Amino acid sequence: MSTSVLKDPDLFRQQAFIAGMWADATGGGVISVDNPATGESIGHVPACGVTETRAAIAAAQTAQREWKQRPAAERAQVLMDWHDQIMANLDDLAAIMTLEQGKVLAEAKGEVRYAASFLSWFAAEARRADGWILPAPAQDRRILVLKEPVGVTAAVTPWNFPLAMITRKCAPALAAGCSMVIKPSELTPFSALAVAALGERAGVPAGLVSVVTGMPQEIGAELTSSAVVRKLSFTGSTRVGALLMRQSADTIKRLSLELGGNAPFIVFDDADLDLAVSGAMASKFRNSGQTCICANRVLVQDAIHDRFVARLVDEVARLKVGDGFDPSATMGPLISEAAVAKVRGHVEDALSKGAVCVSAPLKTEGCFVSPVVLTGVTRDMAVAQEETFGPVVPVFRFRDEDEALEIANGTPYGLAAYFFTGDLDRAWRVGEALEFGMVGLNTGAISMESAPFGGVKQSGLGREGGHAGLDEFLEMKSFHMAGLAGKSRTS
Ligand code: SIN
Repeated sequence: MSTSVLKDPDLFRQQAFIAGMWADATGGGVISVDNPATGESIGHVPACGVTETRAAIAAAQTAQREWKQRPAAERAQVLMDWHDQIMANLDDLAAIMTLEQGKVLAEAKGEVRYAASFLSWFAAEARRADGWILPAPAQDRRILVLKEPVGVTAAVTPWNFPLAMITRKCAPALAAGCSMVIKPSELTPFSALAVAALGERAGVPAGLVSVVTGMPQEIGAELTSSAVVRKLSFTGSTRVGALLMRQSADTIKRLSLELGGNAPFIVFDDADLDLAVSGAMASKFRNSGQTCICANRVLVQDAIHDRFVARLVDEVARLKVGDGFDPSATMGPLISEAAVAKVRGHVEDALSKGAVCVSAPLKTEGCFVSPVVLTGVTRDMAVAQEETFGPVVPVFRFRDEDEALEIANGTPYGLAAYFFTGDLDRAWRVGEALEFGMVGLNTGAISMESAPFGGVKQSGLGREGGHAGLDEFLEMKSFHMAGLAGKSRTS
């Protein structure tokens, strides 16, 4: 498959989008982008660096001055037009995503809808950036709290959701009156460039949104050290999040960090087995297991353990690994051979420490990995301690609620957790005891534009989506007014 499948070939851009212009890197360097299913190059993008990043920041500063003056309803209309452009080009955006990221086409289409949903959500939220009037300490005084845009912002976005992680950051930024310089993953830049081209068609003003392609070190260093950039929003690993946080310290930047997880998925023996199995499949195998909220540790209570595992193994055997364009495939390749090596390492480590593979054994070919279910998993194994980011289900067995909670919370991460129970008291108790930013009860699907998304502990800072997503791009200004004629005119 190639870009010849696109209905609108103009969406496949091989130039960066800087200050409202499509441009090559000043030094002329390029980065090749490969299809993980075939290993073939799809095309190339400019290897931008300091010069291009500075140009994008300067343009963002100029464009933001005008944008923030526009009434919220006008900003909202631009976001809605961008949403409509995305939905009208859903098939092409999905094809570009499958080509560069590997996820199966049906999932890629789902991500395009998910990406568009952030634009319509924040278009509506733009009109609700209201402040407050506080009780004043004297009759001649008034205290107002005004909400104002943070200013120029930056986003560093990941390869696993190449479109939705852009709109989840960019839509609230624009809704709030900010501008944004986006550095997409060098593995999946074409989705970012396509959505920028659609933004241009929708009337996003020149310079308000730039997409600077290239390797992360130089661009990231420039974005974090710039005093003009007032906020950085990042989705990716905890290691890189900590690095960006350190680099942002000198300019005291606001940060939103959506980092690594190690999600527990707990099945109590009073759970509805059908719900638990379908929830585990949805959570674990979304995007071939390459999601920061994927179930990473499956904890199953003694009395239901064998029935749950048997059902899960049956479902896993039905998965079909293949090229994302093959309509019969349900799981695409992993993003790279390094990702495959990590999965292999985790499975070998678990087996060497006593875990048992109860599904077909692990098979790898290029970036394709077969799904695997392991039982007898213990806390000393790598699968229990790190995100595998692949299609491996490591199953722990537990006795009671206390033990389940101790294992579940026994991690430095706190992004997402899931649990399955039919007991209402336990639902409250466990829901409150889990130390995670997001908790799913009797569901493995918790991603949506209307709910805050983010983690605690080393899983990050801030929230995206929901009402909270807009606040991340707004500053509060306390406006103290004094010397007013406070007495009533009728007295
Ligand atoms: C992520 O894996 O970074 C985001 C997943 C989601 O939005 O559901």
